[in-house]
Amino acid sequence: MSDQTYAPSADFAANAHIDAAKYKEMYAASVNDPEAFWREHGQRLDWIRPYSRVKDVNFDFGSVSIKWFEDGTLNVAANCIDRHLAERGDQTAIIWEPDEPGDEALHISYKELHAQTCKMANVLKALGVGKGDRVVIYLPMIPEAAYAMLACARIGAIHSVVFAGFSPDALGARVNGCDAKVVITADEAPRGGRATKLKDNVNQALLHDTRDVKALVVRRTGGQVAWRRDLDFWWHEEAEKVSPDCPPEEMGAEDPLFILYTSGSTGQPKGVVHTSGGYLVYAAMTQELVFDYHEGDVFWCTADVGWVTGHSYIVYGPLANGATTLMFEGVPTYPDASRFWQVCEKHKVNQFYTAPTAIRALMGQGTEYVSRCDLSSLKVLGTVGEPINPEAWTWYNDNVGQGRCPIVDTWWQTETGGHLLTPLPGAIPTKPGSATLPFFGVEPAVLEPESGKEITDTEASGVLALKDSWPGQMRTVWGDHERFEATYFQQYKGYYFSGDGCKRDADGYYWITGRVDDVINVSGHRMGTAEVESALVAHAKVAEAAVVGYPHSIKGQGIYAYVTLMNGVEPTEALRKELEAWVRTEIGPIAKPDLIQWAPGLPKTRSGKIMRRILRKIAEDDYGALGDTSTLADPSVVDELIENRMNRG
Ligand code: WTA
Repeated sequence: MSDQTYAPSADFAANAHIDAAKYKEMYAASVNDPEAFWREHGQRLDWIRPYSRVKDVNFDFGSVSIKWFEDGTLNVAANCIDRHLAERGDQTAIIWEPDEPGDEALHISYKELHAQTCKMANVLKALGVGKGDRVVIYLPMIPEAAYAMLACARIGAIHSVVFAGFSPDALGARVNGCDAKVVITADEAPRGGRATKLKDNVNQALLHDTRDVKALVVRRTGGQVAWRRDLDFWWHEEAEKVSPDCPPEEMGAEDPLFILYTSGSTGQPKGVVHTSGGYLVYAAMTQELVFDYHEGDVFWCTADVGWVTGHSYIVYGPLANGATTLMFEGVPTYPDASRFWQVCEKHKVNQFYTAPTAIRALMGQGTEYVSRCDLSSLKVLGTVGEPINPEAWTWYNDNVGQGRCPIVDTWWQTETGGHLLTPLPGAIPTKPGSATLPFFGVEPAVLEPESGKEITDTEASGVLALKDSWPGQMRTVWGDHERFEATYFQQYKGYYFSGDGCKRDADGYYWITGRVDDVINVSGHRMGTAEVESALVAHAKVAEAAVVGYPHSIKGQGIYAYVTLMNGVEPTEALRKELEAWVRTEIGPIAKPDLIQWAPGLPKTRSGKIMRRILRKIAEDDYGALGDTSTLADPSVVDELIENRMNRG
């Protein structure tokens, strides 16, 4: 923990939406009378029928129920587009920067966004999609991804965006899991100079689906595609046939807006459900205040729309605020390590929001890539996804922010819809590596991991939980409310449990220490070790597998797999490669193990439970203090694993 603090300049604070005094006053108001606070701030949206009820929340295990603005009605797409048309129809809503720097960037006005979204909404209707139906979106980072999300919102369909890096199997499971009627995809996804054949993946994903799932296909590269007769439709052809007007559906505040699959500590990914009113209020308010967004600014969040960060801070938050949001199709290192900074210079980006893993990767390339770009437009920098090490924080601050830009280290989750712990740049002095203080309405608690008792001393160390709800909170797991309650409300009664460990320092600042469950964070991508294990054991030559995370200098965490082979199978380099490729096709490239250790045996208790604590220690190359191994059925297994460990130094 670093004790160095960085306060915003007087100039910055004076021009910010929120300064230190205002933060204190508003935070107190938000927790003393949440009803009144959110009654006021819910007004930032346009409601069709205004809400009279504000908050109706029960965190008691067995009867968990979360509702905000329940009797209000609205349309999310109308809030993100239509209401801006009179004032800013010609203003750029989306700047699109393509993968190839030589290709033309697009500036899509709010007017154009309206027309395209309406057309896509009408096409979806023509394909038989109605209110409450599910649509899977499997697209590159192209404007059509935003049109698709907003088109669903416009007609009251529920979208589920699947990251284009996921394999056909992972896509198929998600299409099936929410019983989607249509998949919106593209021929190919160009990224870093290489193209992924998305349409082929869709064909493979739907091969065994007994329902007739339709596909709406965007032509991005013109690459060859295999067409399924009567089920596949080109977007550019269908768009010609429909009107550029589509009346927005009146939706209840608690009608689902989207499902987004995310990894948990057990089993397959779960469909996190976010609803319409509260989610949008929260995404919009945090986008404006956490980044101190002002009229006319250009906002760039480098995430992919396949993750929650892209939902809240590329599409919904910025557009609800009438902002200009930048969407980037490529990667930070293509054609070279200055791409991010060149894009900042080219489009005069004012707020830049990225992940620590990207910062670490670029830091390793040297400062020359940054210093040759003009970054004078930048005002605020942000990070998200994992704890940022002070070294990367300082590099970001000195080289990218040039000591001038406050850094907001935002802690939140797919489940939370928006930031929960974060500095407000004009109000809260930062410390490298700390997500600092709670956003308005957020009441964190540090609990003793074993007893669940809340630690009320300012200085505390334990697990992070939330005492009360905020409007952006997830409402349920799609189709499995019991799993929702069991995952977040069972272990610590009366709280929402985040799954993260944390420390609180003498100033009341929060420092996230990482997951305390079997979720790992690889290059800012969240993954369940159980998913990788089940992919490995699905291979014919694998008898058993245990997967843990280990510290990785660029990715944050790497994936370490212990694999026990079937009797008689030879452990070879070729088989190692085969297993790596296998996991890539089962889940996607992001899940490929970094290290595979052949494990003739795994450390198990006499009741057969794998002792992951020991496996984690060995993977961390910290096997000196393994703790109590007396309950192991066969302690000699451990010596063998240490002897042949893959991560040395
Ligand atoms: C981690 C991403 C430290 C944390 C928005 C959390 C962070 C998980 C931070 C959620 C941060 C996210 N500092 N850790 N600023 N932000 N995390 O659902 O472990 O992909 O539980 O949401 O990422 O990941 P998810």
